[in-house]
Amino acid sequence: MPPASPIAVVGAGTLGRRLALMFANGGAEVRITDPVPDQVTEALEFVSAHAPNAPGRVVAVPSLKDAVRGAWLAVEAVPERLELKRQVFAELDRLTDHDIVLASNSSSFPTSRMISGLDFPERVLNTHFYLPPLINAVEVMSSGRTSRAVLDSVLGALPEFGFTPVEVRAESTGFIYNRIWAAVKRESLAVVAEGVATPAEVDLLYRMVVGVSTGPFRVMDQVGLDVALDIENGYAAEREGLPEGPRALLREYVERGFLGVKSGRGFYDDYREDS
Ligand SMILES: NC(=O)c1ccc[n+]([C@@H]2O[C@H](COP(=O)([O-])OP(=O)(O)OC[C@H]3O[C@@H](n4cnc5c(N)ncnc54)[C@H](O)[C@@H]3O)[C@@H](O)[C@H]2O)c1
Repeated sequence: MPPASPIAVVGAGTLGRRLALMFANGGAEVRITDPVPDQVTEALEFVSAHAPNAPGRVVAVPSLKDAVRGAWLAVEAVPERLELKRQVFAELDRLTDHDIVLASNSSSFPTSRMISGLDFPERVLNTHFYLPPLINAVEVMSSGRTSRAVLDSVLGALPEFGFTPVEVRAESTGFIYNRIWAAVKRESLAVVAEGVATPAEVDLLYRMVVGVSTGPFRVMDQVGLDVALDIENGYAAEREGLPEGPRALLREYVERGFLGVKSGRGFYDDYREDS
């Protein structure tokens, strides 16, 4: 599996095009495929705008079969729907030699939930990227059946493409960082739900003490409060005993149509309609 071989990126949206950019910048030939032609066009434009002199290149290919031919790695960045991920992995498993590494960029589903029925599940793993090229951390997690050799080869190859990998040492919904961030958000919401502070006061303290430019409420507004609620509901469904207050507060905002930046108002009301 020499990293000099091509890399297939399945899905050309927000993440897929960013992965293509990083891999091309690291010298790889990237084959990108997406059923929506405009997405592919935009992905190619994105790469040439951000890395006009990349040593590698990104080529658009019409099918998964063409994308994976001769590749050493295929990364899926299709929408976050488990059934779709399962279908994509079933097809990848069928189309590729058994030694091609298959990685999922899911934000929430461990690959243990995508491998039933596959002939070669030992080459499947999670690679949870963030928002490259801005945030180049990546969490690498076994499905429980991933071979050690595959994990080591991915952990070894990612730095060649500008990534800093961290291995997740036990199966974990939310990997590592998202769990920590979920706890910060949950307690921030609890503080406001209990009337201890306002969102702006929490953000002010958080920014000053932690030394960052944005506090948790401003971030939740950017992500979307409906999305933040879905994420917290997902954790609550998996783990008993999470407090109800933070979810109740988010639900109250969502039910009033205050979804954050995208609706013009969330915890803050200083967003213009078009911002
Ligand atoms: N956006 C983020 O900040 C972010 C960060 C980390 C992880 N993720 C994860 O990355 C994955 C992709 O998210 P995104 O934000 O890029 O989504 P997106 O909606 O921007 O892009 C998904 C792309 O997949 C394409 N697609 C749909 N079905 C396909 C198929 N069968 N084969 C190939 N392409 C297909 C869509 O046309 C679309 O272009 C999700 O699992 C998400 O949870 C996203």
